[in-house]
Amino acid sequence: MAVESPYTSEQLESLGLSPDRLPRHVAIIMDGNGRWAQNRGLPRIEGHRRGVESVRTVVEEAARLGLEQLTLYCFSSENWKRPRIELDLLMSLLQRYVVAERAEIMRQDIRFVTIGRTDRIHPRIFQEVNATIELSRDNPGMKLCLALDYGARDEIVGAMRQIAEKVRAGALDPAAIDEETISSHLFTAGMVDPDLVIRTAGEMRISNFLLWQISYAELWVTETLWPDFRQPELFSALRDYAGRERRFGGLKTV
Ligand code: IPE
Ligand code: IPE
Ligand code: MG
Repeated sequence: MAVESPYTSEQLESLGLSPDRLPRHVAIIMDGNGRWAQNRGLPRIEGHRRGVESVRTVVEEAARLGLEQLTLYCFSSENWKRPRIELDLLMSLLQRYVVAERAEIMRQDIRFVTIGRTDRIHPRIFQEVNATIELSRDNPGMKLCLALDYGARDEIVGAMRQIAEKVRAGALDPAAIDEETISSHLFTAGMVDPDLVIRTAGEMRISNFLLWQISYAELWVTETLWPDFRQPELFSALRDYAGRERRFGGLKTV
């Protein structure tokens, strides 16, 4: 499959977007796969399968737009509460995705990374995830970050433990702890904060996603279920974002 070339400024303008009003980092809570399937009388896993198609489309579009980073919430630390059968199928979809998309990731110059715990996902699956991470390590294009077994509270607990250890070892003065100290101990160390958080399937909540990092992110929620989310919905979110006034606690700039 040919890689679509990056959007030119003219193409962006004709789609109602301007290159200087695009977010650097978009993070998506991909929700509603189960409902999509249930609405059609299908098993939930069919929604997850179809959701992978949305992932492919959105990754390609984000890369063509020249975004710096796209983060996708794939599996939360709380999703382990789901039935075994759904977990097994989700994990096998993940494995298939990282293997099947490897060539496409390389062709699109994407740098593939993950955030989240690595000790609870089956080692055989994690090996494939790691192979894609390693292969794409030096790619200069967009960073594609999958949140796998990710929970923001869990992430903050881990960061606090590491910081406490450094204090105990005498390597860190508590008075020197600042926001940067905390940021640099999170899974997202070195990444820019998301500018825009998209949630599909209408729920008005964050569900333990990037709590620290989204302090000043713009939020955009759509009723569209993830398996139906494609280029038109992504562009609606981006057009809406372009019209937002971000003040970061300051005053309107005139
Ligand atoms: C999102 O879809 C995918 C994951 C959380 C893994 P859901 O499976 O949560 O779908 P709904 O919310 O039940 O419709
Ligand atoms: C959020 O969706 C997690 C992911 C999209 C991976 P959930 O379906 O798990 O969220 P809740 O349970 O509705 O809050
Ligand atoms: Mg859900």
